[in-house]
Amino acid sequence: MTFQTFELENWQSDHEQTVRFNLADSTVDPVTVADLIEDGEDLERIMSVPLYYPEVNGERSLRGLIAGLHDGIGTDDVLVTVGASEANAAIVDALCEPGDRVVVMEPGYRQVWGLARNRGCDVAAFELHADRGWAPDLEQLRRVAAPGTRLIYVCNPNNPTGYILTQREMAEIVRIAEDCGAWLVADEVYRGSERLTDAETPSFVGMTDKVIGVGSLSKSYGLSGLRIGWAVCTHPELADLWRRHEYVAIATGRLDNFLAECALRPAARRRLFERNRACVRRGYDLFSAWALRQGGRLAAQPPMASALAFVRYDSDLSSVEVGDLFRREASVLVAPGVFFGREGWFRINIGMDTGHLAQALDALAPVVAALPPASGR
Ligand SMILES: Cc1ncc(COP(=O)(O)O)c(C=O)c1O
Repeated sequence: MTFQTFELENWQSDHEQTVRFNLADSTVDPVTVADLIEDGEDLERIMSVPLYYPEVNGERSLRGLIAGLHDGIGTDDVLVTVGASEANAAIVDALCEPGDRVVVMEPGYRQVWGLARNRGCDVAAFELHADRGWAPDLEQLRRVAAPGTRLIYVCNPNNPTGYILTQREMAEIVRIAEDCGAWLVADEVYRGSERLTDAETPSFVGMTDKVIGVGSLSKSYGLSGLRIGWAVCTHPELADLWRRHEYVAIATGRLDNFLAECALRPAARRRLFERNRACVRRGYDLFSAWALRQGGRLAAQPPMASALAFVRYDSDLSSVEVGDLFRREASVLVAPGVFFGREGWFRINIGMDTGHLAQALDALAPVVAALPPASGR
């Protein structure tokens, strides 16, 4: 079996160190340690953290805070992982066997897609439609989620479109998962980055029995450098993820656990989400005004959440060719749409410092203007 590389992450690994403007990431301007430490007492505590292994499944106090984010989840229903990445990897490894049907959203973050292919699963997709404002085709989901489907993976809010499912769509996805007997894996790392509302996107956790919620401090908290994520689940299968975690990482970092606790205290969490939404709103306003000035060569679909804009371009070039042009000519790294399952689009980060974004967009404008137009025009 040929190994499926994680094309998006591979693209970033290959190029992010050699460009002036890295807009291929999906987080906001990072938070610093000083931003997280509230007072002298915190400082004293951090200085005296013993740099021994933390509890292998995450410090109990941290797991308690994560459990508190969901109804019906206890401290022992949480596994702290090295980012959401490790949680997703452990889930596929623990739950899926070769030949199992796995269904994912498309366009989407293709980690579970690639992991499932590498596990020998039969991977199918259901689409989010650009012409319906990225609403999902749930009839298609019902068709592809045949009886016996092992796992349905949803990302809500979605990467790369920023689409937030309605309550009715969430309920229908739950019904479909229940009808076919699948595990529902809800990757919710962008909850808290809503652009059009201050209301946090609801969680799938608690909506059905066989659900695993995946979270992370990387995106909405601006703390990707901590490498703290988690899986929450009330089933004994959580222990199967934990067994994988022992092989891959043993544990997360003790300091990371301490700082994660600082970020998840209710007041700090509220503050970090406010900061995140401000970055997302400011950045998208700047970006969308710029996109409108590009002579109709770009069409951005406004994201409901996330520091991302998913943009359609008017050219027959492939999204990798466009990404290469942007990189070579403007030293701007974007993420080609094909890595999310959509040719003809690219994803660009709008959540970093606006001065930096404005400079990158200035550099990009002449390259966009020089793109060979689509042959149909
Ligand atoms: C939907 C989604 N899930 C998981 C991850 C992994 O994030 P991390 O491992 O930093 O928590 C990402 C990163 O881009 C993502 O977009």
